Amino acid sequence: MNDMPSTAESLTETPEWRALLAHRADIEPVRLRELFAADPGRADTMTAVAGDLVVDYSKHLVTARTMELLLDLARAVGIEQARDAMFAGEHINVTEDRAVLHTALRLPRSARLVVDGQDVVADVHEVLDAMGEFTDRVRDGRWRGATGEKITTVVNIGIGGSDLGPVMVTRALRHYHDGPQVRFVSNVDPADLTGVLAGLDPASTLFVVASKTFSTLETLCNATAARRWVVAALGEQAVASHFVAVSTHAERVAAFGIDPVNMFGFWEWVGGRYSVDSAIGLSVMCAIGRERFAELLAGFRMVDEHFVSAPLERNVPVLLGLLGVWYTSVLGAQSRVVLPYANDLVRFPAYLQQLTMESNGKSVRVDGSAVSCATGEIFWGEPGTNGQHAFFQLLHQGTHLVPADFIGFGRSTDDLPVVDGSGSMHEVLMANMFAQAKVLAFGKSAAEIRAEGVAEELVAHKVMPGGRPSTTILAPVLSPSSLGQLIALYEHEVFVEGVVWGIDSFDQWGVELGKEQASVLGPVLGGVGDPGSGDGSTDNLIRTYRRMAKE
Ligand code: F6P
Repeated sequence: MNDMPSTAESLTETPEWRALLAHRADIEPVRLRELFAADPGRADTMTAVAGDLVVDYSKHLVTARTMELLLDLARAVGIEQARDAMFAGEHINVTEDRAVLHTALRLPRSARLVVDGQDVVADVHEVLDAMGEFTDRVRDGRWRGATGEKITTVVNIGIGGSDLGPVMVTRALRHYHDGPQVRFVSNVDPADLTGVLAGLDPASTLFVVASKTFSTLETLCNATAARRWVVAALGEQAVASHFVAVSTHAERVAAFGIDPVNMFGFWEWVGGRYSVDSAIGLSVMCAIGRERFAELLAGFRMVDEHFVSAPLERNVPVLLGLLGVWYTSVLGAQSRVVLPYANDLVRFPAYLQQLTMESNGKSVRVDGSAVSCATGEIFWGEPGTNGQHAFFQLLHQGTHLVPADFIGFGRSTDDLPVVDGSGSMHEVLMANMFAQAKVLAFGKSAAEIRAEGVAEELVAHKVMPGGRPSTTILAPVLSPSSLGQLIALYEHEVFVEGVVWGIDSFDQWGVELGKEQASVLGPVLGGVGDPGSGDGSTDNLIRTYRRMAKE
């Protein structure tokens, strides 16, 4: 596989890895309070900037020596060569023999990148222009439904990367939404489509069927049902003006009944979970318009440029990716909690779940050999302050090590005064964010609690252990640009982790068998004979299901 580092040598046998493991013993007794006391410049040294994102990683269980050892490891696995290979369009997705070029989706029109004999930048801008023309027409009312109605609702039908990115970005950019309302259907549970269509008028509804492969069962079921809904109300000829597609597969789009002139294409080198900035973002562009979408892309590009050019010691995706490896593979953390202190980022943790877990949830390396350390982080989270009243108890006093990512903004898009009519609710929000990160890191000792006169039998219950690590990411305001920067930051962080672990972060073979089994079991559910699924548990469950289905 071209220039990617060889995995012949197990990561854990390298001298750099051994040095990190040996260093763990130096870190384990260290307290964050002591680290800050010993080095007044720690917060400055351990704050790095990528584009508009200011990233404080000083509250991590690391010393300057830890970071040196992690950077040695990054160099030893050839992080810069791997990054350059990705940006150059080499086939780093080895198991599918594909380039990985989501970074080309945000290159400026003036750039040129020839991959496999094709200038991909020209292709990208041709599609962006087509998207822009189409969304202009939908937004200004020149695109009409079959009966001449203006489109007031766009329904995106897709799943996984063809849903999570558009949902997350549309929700995050609520403040910038000046186009038709946009809704999303993903689940094959008919409740999803039925709920979304409730109250909609087919005459003013446009469906965007988004599927890279155009073969995903859920999407085809939902799109077929939506088509029936339109045809029942408006007739067969209405399909042309009420359905467009986003896909890499023109033939399947045509077979479904959507004219490929109403298809917006992308390419095999865009992974589903890396596709929100491709034509998969069509519904986002309907909501916010082409200029705002261009700002989103420019945001991605700012962090791409930082990732490509910043020295490793100041390279934020590299530093955060290495910290991910440190916690997962050395300190034994199993999950990372993402805490956006911005309600509009409510779907960001779910978006990151696919981005990170479908990418790095692997137990073999690119050459097929088993990994020799823990890989992949379980991502979860909720916006603050809601999470504080739900799971923060475990973060503060539980037994698990859960590194946290706090994400906050200097300004709110919609600030309101607090209850007494003064001050700012946004300030209350941000005060909570800073307080939580502070308490997680520094805690409160038994001595401090006793000094407050707390009854002795309660002291142990009130001790806040501290030493709980977090990153804080601050940006000026939640905007298309800063959102693009945030997404690109995590994309590259995932990449860095994958390179260190030596895995292919761009395939997802683990999701295939479940799909196959579902298609085998589908016809069995409605049958009458022995389910014959091959295992007693599934057979029993199917019998019970059949009985319940008839009750
Ligand atoms: O099943 C996983 C997956 O292949 C994801 O990787 C992808 O984002 C999703 O399904 C949807 O795929 P498609 O866009 O081809 O419908």
